[in-house]
Amino acid sequence: MDRPPLILSVMLMAWLMGAATVSSAQDLAQEAPHAFTISPGYRFTEKSGEALYNATCAGCHMPDGKGAQGAGHYPALADNPAVEAAPYVIVNVLHGRKAMPPFGDAMDDDQVAAVVNYTRTHFGNRFA
Ligand code: HEC
Repeated sequence: MDRPPLILSVMLMAWLMGAATVSSAQDLAQEAPHAFTISPGYRFTEKSGEALYNATCAGCHMPDGKGAQGAGHYPALADNPAVEAAPYVIVNVLHGRKAMPPFGDAMDDDQVAAVVNYTRTHFGNRFA
């Protein structure tokens, strides 16, 4: 008898669903970085730059390289002029940088080279 018009119910549902989607995407972006830890003695087994990027960097810098803003600042690697200097990227990966962990003990030289090359040639980066 007193049911609201159907159109209002549909609009309310769409609004609720939209709101839920937005908040869960934000939670993901904020919490993904905190979930990243490397156990002592762990060695990554991935070989290709893409697989290494997805297993390591993507958790903080995001799969599209655009970085994240949450509890911390995770700089974009996409279109980032700092990524042009290969040694700079290598040093960051080997030794870490503030909130970024060092990967030097968990990757061999080939893996470091692969993931650095991948970062410098994807996400709009075109560095030789
Ligand atoms: C646990 C999160 C985390 C992971 C995992 C991570 N980074 Fe970072 N990275 C950061 C943070 C935070 C910074 C900014 C540090 C600062 O405050 O200067 C950063 C900075 C950088 C920078 C310097 C950017 C600039 O503009 O100076 C590069 C390059 C970089 N990361 C590459 C990588 C690569 C490649 C990987 C994967 C091998 C990786 N990062 C994995 C968190 C992370």
